[in-house]
Amino acid sequence: MDNLNIYLDAKELPRYWYNVLPDLPSPLSPPLHPVTKKPISLDDVKPIFPVSLIEQEVSNTKEISIPEEVLEKYLLWRPTPLRRARNLEKFLDTPAHIYFKDESVSPPGSHKPNTAIPQAYYNKLEKTKKICTETGAGQWGSALAFACSQFGLECEVFMVRVSYNQKPYRKVMMQTWGARCVPSPSELTKVGREILAKDPDSPGSLGIAIGEAIERALEDESTKYALGSVLNHVVLHQTVIGLETKKQLELIGEKPDVIIGCVGGGSNFAGMALPFVRDKINGEEIDIYAVEPTSCPTITRGEYLYDFGDIAKSTPLLPMHTLGHSFIPPPVHAGGLRYHGMAPIVSKLVKENLITPISVFQLDTFEAGITWAKQQGFIPAPETTHAIYYAIKEAIKAKEEGKEKTIVFSYSGHGLVDMAAYEAYLSGQLQDYSLSEEDIKKALEELKDLPRP
Ligand SMILES: Cc1ncc(COP(=O)(O)O)c(C=O)c1O
Repeated sequence: MDNLNIYLDAKELPRYWYNVLPDLPSPLSPPLHPVTKKPISLDDVKPIFPVSLIEQEVSNTKEISIPEEVLEKYLLWRPTPLRRARNLEKFLDTPAHIYFKDESVSPPGSHKPNTAIPQAYYNKLEKTKKICTETGAGQWGSALAFACSQFGLECEVFMVRVSYNQKPYRKVMMQTWGARCVPSPSELTKVGREILAKDPDSPGSLGIAIGEAIERALEDESTKYALGSVLNHVVLHQTVIGLETKKQLELIGEKPDVIIGCVGGGSNFAGMALPFVRDKINGEEIDIYAVEPTSCPTITRGEYLYDFGDIAKSTPLLPMHTLGHSFIPPPVHAGGLRYHGMAPIVSKLVKENLITPISVFQLDTFEAGITWAKQQGFIPAPETTHAIYYAIKEAIKAKEEGKEKTIVFSYSGHGLVDMAAYEAYLSGQLQDYSLSEEDIKKALEELKDLPRP
């Protein structure tokens, strides 16, 4: 009998994060100041981020050492298992080998603490007292709440209102770790009050919540802001996923043909994919797919432009695929995938044809989630079902072609706090959303006078 779970020893935990920036075929265009539209300086962003993270954001070092204190915290749940989905393979009657990297075993249940822990650590080192952030599905907010509790920092989380209502237990998790959780838009900030004045029933969006969190961070010198995805340093921290996966595949003598991840801001996908993108740049043949919802089709239908990360236009302008900073996605249950922009690194890889963007409908992803739960037992997060859907599709294709492909995907989180979403699906209350060309054109209209990357 083969092992279905491939574990690594604590001493195999990666000692460095992999920085793809020096390996990219062409450099990323620099972030621009939101007002002057000139490349941003260290002094511009010092009020919101610790210097060590700003340095990582622009670093050209390929391997960045993971501090000992971060490794110690990682050991609470890392290395995570790589598992083989043998039951699903049998159910699909496919010759493909399907593996998933199980990031759901972390304390809050997703990949998010891979970056929350180092972000809290560097903040602590630089004397930050409190960190403010936004959260969509609540996974990032709960991860940062957990990380702040590990380093004795205060934490305030603006949670997108539609998810706050759909997932009340995420709020309780944050409170259990000692954080404050506020539904966004809120009356606490100018950004929130302006939105509520126009639309008291606003479902909120990540763009609004980011604006609120940054506004709060700027009110006090010892308060900083943290972002759970998109930025280069977040993507960097997430590369522990792919680095461990590579070691685990080597242990069992497998080489991946297909790598898959779901994308919201791009961090779990990039964390899994980047060590394999390096192999691809060096000549290996690997198909790499980034899967997003049709309701928020940033990389499949958005444009590669400079855009703000938030609705208040307070973040630097980033070169990325975007649907426009004022785009408010339909209230699908994969709350963590409802973001108008994309990590500049992921956008660049799409532009360079090193990865392939895919979009999928909500109902298909829930069907895949149910199939998975019935075959493999674990109940996935609605975000993760996007990756599962596509892994199933690739496995069926392998069967049709009679190929014994090795498919590996990032199992970014469990769905045990997402039961309301499953209930809505099972009782037939969910629907698909897709956007018209008009909707997308309208959302991008506002960006026409901004500089081009
Ligand atoms: C379980 C899960 N997967 C995926 C995502 C998407 O984020 P990212 O693209 O940064 O990995 C989220 C975001 O909240 C999430 O909670």
